[in-house]
Amino acid sequence: MSSPNATELNLFQRLPLGIIWKSSVAIAGLVFFYAFLFSHNLDNQSSDSFVTLQLKRPASSPNVTIHSPTNISHIGFIVISSLNSWKNRNPYILSWWRPNVTRGCIFLDKEPTQEYLPWPSTSPPYRVNEDVTKLSVYPKLVSPDQVRMFRSILDMYRVGDNKDLRWFMMCDDDTILLVDNLVEVLQKYDHTNYFYIGDNSECVKSNADFSFDMGFGGAGYALSYPLVEALSTKLDACIERYPQLYVSDHMAQSCLADIGVALTIEKGIHQIDLHDDISGLLSAHPQSPLLSLHHFDFINPIFPSMDRYQATNHLMTAAKYDQSRFLQQTICYHRERNWSFSVSWGYSTHIYEKTIPRSILRKPLETFKPWRWNGSPPLYMFNTRWVNNDPCDAPHVFFFQSIEYNASGNQLLTTYIRASPRNLPPCSVDGNHSADSISEILVLSPATTRKTAGVIECCDVEYKAEMNITEIKIR
Ligand SMILES: *[C@@H]1O[C@H](CO)[C@@H](O)[C@H](O)[C@H]1NC(C)=O
Ligand SMILES: *[C@@H]1O[C@H](CO)[C@@H](O)[C@H](O)[C@H]1NC(C)=O
Ligand SMILES: *[C@@H]1O[C@H](CO)[C@@H](O)[C@H](O)[C@H]1NC(C)=O
Ligand SMILES: *[C@@H]1O[C@H](CO)[C@@H](O)[C@H](O)[C@H]1NC(C)=O
Ligand SMILES: *[C@@H]1O[C@H](CO)[C@@H](O)[C@H](O)[C@H]1NC(C)=O
Ligand SMILES: *[C@@H]1O[C@H](CO)[C@@H](O)[C@H](O)[C@H]1NC(C)=O
Ligand SMILES: *[C@@H]1O[C@H](CO)[C@@H](O)[C@H](O)[C@H]1NC(C)=O
Repeated sequence: MSSPNATELNLFQRLPLGIIWKSSVAIAGLVFFYAFLFSHNLDNQSSDSFVTLQLKRPASSPNVTIHSPTNISHIGFIVISSLNSWKNRNPYILSWWRPNVTRGCIFLDKEPTQEYLPWPSTSPPYRVNEDVTKLSVYPKLVSPDQVRMFRSILDMYRVGDNKDLRWFMMCDDDTILLVDNLVEVLQKYDHTNYFYIGDNSECVKSNADFSFDMGFGGAGYALSYPLVEALSTKLDACIERYPQLYVSDHMAQSCLADIGVALTIEKGIHQIDLHDDISGLLSAHPQSPLLSLHHFDFINPIFPSMDRYQATNHLMTAAKYDQSRFLQQTICYHRERNWSFSVSWGYSTHIYEKTIPRSILRKPLETFKPWRWNGSPPLYMFNTRWVNNDPCDAPHVFFFQSIEYNASGNQLLTTYIRASPRNLPPCSVDGNHSADSISEILVLSPATTRKTAGVIECCDVEYKAEMNITEIKIR
């Protein structure tokens, strides 16, 4: 789902009528059709046998091998791009890429012309994808450029710089990755097994159009090395089987499903199939390490009065100090005034002039629009809250301003400042305690202990009325 235009199409409109008829009527025929595919295309097994489908597992010794923990050098990044898009999207890549530390390549459709050279050393090295016009299936391909993008897995594998690689991480060029969190999350999985790790789209319709078992590729998905090894021998056969597919991540999902591998969901991977203001979503991130944010070119800048690149770099200033808490929502209460606070670490804080339970505050405020405007409800894969002007429901909104490390206290101090006046009367049902005068919120968090994934942190609120500042301590 990289090109917005491609996603406007409907898969079923593109299937030849014969296939629709087959799949809806001739179920028995379909079973044989697949059995045929498995025995002929997938495993090169004996073509006589329709019954003995063997599940292959990656070769592993029965003796338990203790592997060192997965680190950044074990991941090969595959950034999918094109010469045209690279020009404007390169700042997103530079925001997370660490020269001489992160491994991998950026894949282009054609050789860079003189104006792109010398290729910057701060960027991933580039490779040009293999020419898909040479494939015998080429004339049947509905979307050759997406096939090119999909084949980056193969192209990367064949680059051959695979020593000690345990994972491949695919993503698009308008995606921001949180590399430290990715390392931590991949550590949980056994890289010697087959793993396909990604996440769905936020929009019900996108998942329905492609697959609810698909890791959306722009946001990124990780494949374990043995899985890529297995896929590499089957990938082109798979393209021949599915020439009608028109997005690369659906090709990947289809091939992987045929090998027998299902998606493992990680909630920190974000396709951002949304438009306009995504602050509501980012302000209610679940207690799961943030791994990626995609589609930065299709949303408003995530901080007010900044452009997209400034907003990206501003976001990453906090990420440089602590990715483990990044954007994760912490909720706390100020009993003396019946206020509720919601902190999205490194991004925003909200004050509500009412005691609102966590179960409600965890639902994102629906500040955004779906990827497609014509969808009918339910639009999203999660519950949302409506944005309204009831003084008891509408938050005072503060955005991340700066971060400081306090060595003596071993703490990180993040500062959030008011985006704009709320311009509403106080919430009367919970005591009329206006928060209008608060201009700044300070959040203190431990500097050296990474937050353990899944652990819910608490916070305490201290209101310094004379200074119009509220201090929140995360513990
Ligand atoms: C397992 O370890 C034992 C002892 O080190 C060795 O003799 C045996 O060959 C190993 N088995 C495999 C399958 O590697
Ligand atoms: C990652 O772990 C390997 C051992 O598996 C080690 O050789 C390498 O130096 C480590 N890299 C980093 C960046 O820590
Ligand atoms: C990466 O390493 C190479 C060779 O060691 C060096 O020439 C280059 O300046 C380094 N690049 C950066 C951005 O540090
Ligand atoms: C740093 O932390 C110490 C100990 O908690 C505290 O006394 C001091 O005021 C802090 N400094 C700043 C600049 O916040
Ligand atoms: C908090 O709200 C409740 C009603 O929801 C009210 O009874 C109570 O007095 C309020 N507390 C304060 C300090 O205003
Ligand atoms: C809050 O203010 C409204 C309107 O001024 C008033 O009707 C209500 O009684 C007040 N509530 C409290 C708890 O003071
Ligand atoms: C606090 O806010 C009030 C109302 O907005 C203002 O009158 C006052 O000067 C502010 N105090 C400080 C210390 O900024």
